Amino acid sequence: MDSKIGPFVKWAGGKNQLIDRLKARLPESYARYYEPFIGGGALFLDLQPNRAVINDNNEQLLNIYRQLKADAEAVIDAVNILDAEPCNKERYLAMRESYNNKIAANELDAQCAALMIWINKHCFNGLYRVNSKGLFNVPYNNKTCGVSIDADNLRNIGIFFRSNDIDIRQGDFEVACSDVSSGDFVYFDSPYIPISETANFTDYTKDGFSLEDHKRLARLFRHLDSIGAQIMLSNHNVPLVHSLYEGYEIETVDVRRAINRDASKRVGTEVIITNYRE
Ligand SMILES: C[S@@+](CC[C@H](N)C(=O)[O-])C[C@H]1O[C@@H](n2cnc3c(N)ncnc32)[C@H](O)[C@@H]1O
Repeated sequence: MDSKIGPFVKWAGGKNQLIDRLKARLPESYARYYEPFIGGGALFLDLQPNRAVINDNNEQLLNIYRQLKADAEAVIDAVNILDAEPCNKERYLAMRESYNNKIAANELDAQCAALMIWINKHCFNGLYRVNSKGLFNVPYNNKTCGVSIDADNLRNIGIFFRSNDIDIRQGDFEVACSDVSSGDFVYFDSPYIPISETANFTDYTKDGFSLEDHKRLARLFRHLDSIGAQIMLSNHNVPLVHSLYEGYEIETVDVRRAINRDASKRVGTEVIITNYRE
């Protein structure tokens, strides 16, 4: 497919900034492309692989990919209706309630996808956070936003999904990788290990990814390596990552970080780890 496509939501850890450096480190060739923490899918949508497995444990996010595959026009029409009325705090809260009603009723349809896209554009920092009942609770960003979508991008994503062999899964990363074979390529972009020394990592389990999850991921990396898969992984440049992936190719890359009051903390380093050499 010739049309350029890209992420349709702002997503924590979105890889737009690192894309060229990730692309420079891809293996020369591979059978299937696996991305078990797909999020906004920056690398996947840029590469447009012919055979792929994408996965995430966020059911609502996966619903958007599924709805775009099934009928992108239905999602576009529903977002256009939401965009037709200007937003203010009252309207934002009403739409958030409609979205939460969809979640509570488990109605994963085009309207639910449209609401999530619209809310992502109007909520604070594009964050995705749910309460203990699984209901979305991010406040309004207090901005007058323009349109919430690039309709052609959504259309072209739908076409890309329908004209290629793309398996959309939902669940834990380890399960999603159960049929990886020799020659496949897997890109792991899990929630990162916190850099802040004050972050209490053992408590970082509620919506996030625990220390045990990071250890489980490192074991999976070593297992997939042993069966002949080609693997790339990104994370913060912190000592724990170096010890978990000892023995593999670990390259550090400079990145700009989200606004920090301390200017010296606006540049950081991340790592790109591979089990092969480019
Ligand atoms: C850093 S983000 C991926 C960002 C993505 N590469 C992009 O460009 O937008 C990590 C993703 O992992 C998902 N996630 C968290 N825990 C997971 C788990 N146990 N299994 C699968 N996905 C998980 C989150 O929902 C989130 O979308």
